[in-house]
Amino acid sequence: MSGKIVGVISIKGGVGKTTVVSNLAAALAKQGRKVLAIDANFSAPNLGIHVGVVNKENTIHEVIAGKIDASEAIYPNEAGFDIMPARLLPIRIDPLRLKRKISALKNSYDFILIDSSPNLNEEMAATMAASDELIVVSSPDFATLSCTMRAVKAAREKKVPITGLVLNRVRNKHYELTLDEIESSTEVPVVGLMPEEEKVLEALSVTTPVVVFAPRKDVSIEYQKLAAAISGGKYRDTRLWSNVRNFLFENNFSKVDVNRTVIAGKKK
Ligand SMILES: Nc1ncnc2c1ncn2[C@@H]1O[C@H](COP(=O)(O)OP(=O)(O)OP(=O)(O)O)[C@@H](O)[C@H]1O
Ligand SMILES: [Mg+2]
Repeated sequence: MSGKIVGVISIKGGVGKTTVVSNLAAALAKQGRKVLAIDANFSAPNLGIHVGVVNKENTIHEVIAGKIDASEAIYPNEAGFDIMPARLLPIRIDPLRLKRKISALKNSYDFILIDSSPNLNEEMAATMAASDELIVVSSPDFATLSCTMRAVKAAREKKVPITGLVLNRVRNKHYELTLDEIESSTEVPVVGLMPEEEKVLEALSVTTPVVVFAPRKDVSIEYQKLAAAISGGKYRDTRLWSNVRNFLFENNFSKVDVNRTVIAGKKK
């Protein structure tokens, strides 16, 4: 097995990187993939909290410090994938050792997702260096877009391929930036359009990804579609309303669906 390492980045904090990592991991796991999610937000980690894995003695910090082997800091969680948490009270480490410490794990997983720090310093550089490809998380407002453009520029300078943008917390309001505006500013295709959804917050309160907590919500179906595209396939939404909609509005392909078909095609 030779898995792919996918880094999830954004320069602005709080846009949804950890939510994307935990839900994409859960969706890939539901589709039968073997997945590891790594918390590489070394200074302010919280991936463990999103999936109910907390207070573990062995973490990525000990792995990078050379105290333990990477395989000793891996824990399963109820959403069906493995996680390598970080220390909630971090110790000083050299983040740039990340790549060396985790690359052998590619032999054991289909996908390794890395949850990055939002700081454009060596913490984010470590995620970029360790990743085969990147997903950039953004939201449809000017403040976030300017940070997103910087994140895209930084990835391009480091020559790490960007699979696409995930637009998170989309409310479909007139004051939001449009998909075309975002794609033309960044020159990166939008491959996931995640609606603002209260269930995401409710799911977090019980430390469960929304894909598991409320699998039939639009946001969860979007994660399933993104997961399928990343593995080179297509997810069929079997919900009744979605079938009625497709029947009534024949050829109702969204731009994001087309982008996902393109990235799925490249994975084959
Ligand atoms: N689609 C959504 N709808 C509603 N709330 C959301 C959605 N996505 C994320 N959130 C909420 O937004 C908050 C921030 O998300 P998250 O922790 O994933 O961001 P982050 O980019 O990882 O932050 P940091 O940069 O601090 O690591 C969380 O409370 C999360 O539950
Ligand atoms: Mg985070």
